[in-house]
Amino acid sequence: MDQATIQHLKQINDVLCCPKCAGNLEVNSDIIQCLNCRQSYQVSDNIPLLFWPNEWDPAQKDVTDIVRNFYEKTPFPNYDDLDNAGSLIQKARQGVFAKLLDEQIPFGTRVLECGCGTGQLSNFLSIADRTVMGTDICLNSLKLGQDFKERNQLKRVHFLQMNLFRPVFKSETFDLVICNGVLHHTSDPFGGYKGIARLVKPNGYIIIGLYHQWGRILTDIRRIIFNLTQDRFRSLDPRLRGKNLGETRKNTWFADQYKHPHESKHTIREVLDWFKESGFNFVKSIPRTSIFATVADEETRLFKAERSGDTFELFLAELKMMFTDHKEGGFFVVIGQKIS
Ligand SMILES: C[S@@+](CC[C@H](N)C(=O)[O-])C[C@H]1O[C@@H](n2cnc3c(N)ncnc32)[C@H](O)[C@@H]1O
Ligand SMILES: [Zn+2]
Repeated sequence: MDQATIQHLKQINDVLCCPKCAGNLEVNSDIIQCLNCRQSYQVSDNIPLLFWPNEWDPAQKDVTDIVRNFYEKTPFPNYDDLDNAGSLIQKARQGVFAKLLDEQIPFGTRVLECGCGTGQLSNFLSIADRTVMGTDICLNSLKLGQDFKERNQLKRVHFLQMNLFRPVFKSETFDLVICNGVLHHTSDPFGGYKGIARLVKPNGYIIIGLYHQWGRILTDIRRIIFNLTQDRFRSLDPRLRGKNLGETRKNTWFADQYKHPHESKHTIREVLDWFKESGFNFVKSIPRTSIFATVADEETRLFKAERSGDTFELFLAELKMMFTDHKEGGFFVVIGQKIS
């Protein structure tokens, strides 16, 4: 472990906990140890290996290992060969969502990203003086994120291996928790959500991105075509037709969308129920649910609360997902705020 990693872990030690028993941890020069159960955790390439398995009843399906193995082979979303801090900023700003997040999350915010993959968003958000923890189960992805961080000397982002079902942080530690495109690759999306929702401070925010039940229909049809034709006609996918992604990232996108071992699909309505059960207020969704709202400007103010729309509006918004936004593979995002 290098000095900067040790120093940082010692600084945040009061918010860390053992993923096995939730006890306090002690950080030594080359190992992290639980003061309660004495379990020790290694560090590899300056990434603390704090993964702990779910330990569910054997009758309960658990895809964690299958999904981890998939991403160890195809880390997502990966970097293009010549990426550096400048090009990362440029690309993130071309992506509307990352740009809005960067503009609207105040400096100094403590952010946790669960399932950060290769860490693009974590790295990007840390540039403007926020402390960001990028966590994932996949070590190869984390290594790419860490490598980018080190090459570009980003000091405020930190990568840790963590299973979101066994968090290594104490409750109510973060101003913002982001979990984008992850829970639908787990066996228990709502259970995973509840675990990470606990980590949000009162009045803090959570951002959840999921595949949509109806928005995913075109992707499903394309998957059938690819399977029937030995993956010919890749240009049917709008992202693979475009010129924005390099070859590595195109192949990674193809594997993630069409060859994934496990995905589930969800609705905005469902996430609203998750919020209700866990003490969060609805703030905003993309696409918006209050579809008759007229103030266009408010669409881009991510943390400005709006009403969630009545049942009919919600139905229309969900239905619209079937016909729009296929570049993202039928993806929606919901933002909630923890009631204090
Ligand atoms: C589709 S990628 C999304 C990566 C990134 N959030 C993004 O939007 O580009 C899904 C990520 O979730 C991670 N993941 C899956 N199950 C997880 C779990 N139980 N705990 C933490 N991360 C998990 C995978 O390793 C993978 O990196
Ligand atoms: Zn322990």
